[in-house]
Amino acid sequence: MRATAIAQPNIALVKYWGKADILRNLPAVGSLSITLDALTTTMTVDLQGAGRADELILNGQINHKIMPRVSACLDRLLGKNRGPAAIRSECNFPIAAGLASSAAAFAALVVATNAAADLSLDKLSLARAAGAASGSAARSLYGGFVELSVTPEDIAVESVVEENAWPLDVIVAVNAHGPKAMSSGEAMQLSAQTSPFYDRWVKSQDVDLAAARTAVLERDFSKLAEVSEHSCLKMHSVMWGSRPPVVYWNAATIACMESVRQMQCDGLDVFFTVDAGPQVKVICLPEIADEVHSIVRGTDGVLSTMRTALGQGARVVGDG
Ligand code: DP6
Repeated sequence: MRATAIAQPNIALVKYWGKADILRNLPAVGSLSITLDALTTTMTVDLQGAGRADELILNGQINHKIMPRVSACLDRLLGKNRGPAAIRSECNFPIAAGLASSAAAFAALVVATNAAADLSLDKLSLARAAGAASGSAARSLYGGFVELSVTPEDIAVESVVEENAWPLDVIVAVNAHGPKAMSSGEAMQLSAQTSPFYDRWVKSQDVDLAAARTAVLERDFSKLAEVSEHSCLKMHSVMWGSRPPVVYWNAATIACMESVRQMQCDGLDVFFTVDAGPQVKVICLPEIADEVHSIVRGTDGVLSTMRTALGQGARVVGDG
């Protein structure tokens, strides 16, 4: 009745932004991501260890904020008549700051719960359960380059290329600490309701997805760089066009983009992407990662950096 799972966040190269069905948390668009390696969430789910209600201890502290979504996810997997669960989670990177901490958390939650309750659900069912809690979480069930597609009924997720088949490195520039002002879910709703660019964003997604998929299958770094930066800037343009505008960047975000532009001008295979926060993820080939890392670390306003390769999907690591 107790199991531990480990999950890593993923970073979308072709972004998910917008919901087709808010109640089911069904994305309006497909997406393509990379699962990371060095950033981890380790979660233990104990289905008999709680008092009267579900409890979540996150990095040693009781957490109430994410609890309703965690309980809803457990209800979906175990049914509403289940007993309370005790959950302990350790995360080695900043939470709710645009580093996909919720993706890793819900991926770990569904995998640990599946093992603790002996549900024997397959990976796609677990990805769907994680995605119903947080859209991007469905992708963290899979390793390497992952594509999520939306069907009228539900989502489908698959690994397009495994993590070892095309090794890339990611340098994360942490440009602010502390949680973001508005959750991605809320910001997506605001974009859908108020941004004049939202409909065009949804319509143009399939072309970007096809281009990114081909670039990954052909290991075409420049093509992947071009389509990824475009998807990122397009998503942020949708946000900036919302009322009130949603701006997650700070000065260091732009400084990092300029550093990447300079590296590209100098002939380095590198590109950036930014999610719902000021952090910048810089993707490059492993052989130039030392050089890229030192340039990103030295960029104005960057508080700290993390470096990671691509990693595996969420998995069970123990029963305690
Ligand atoms: C900018 O998965 O956090 O990171 O489904 O509302 O939980 P919810 O949204 P979430 O949104 C992720 C948005 C993004 C882009 C992406 O990861 O594709």
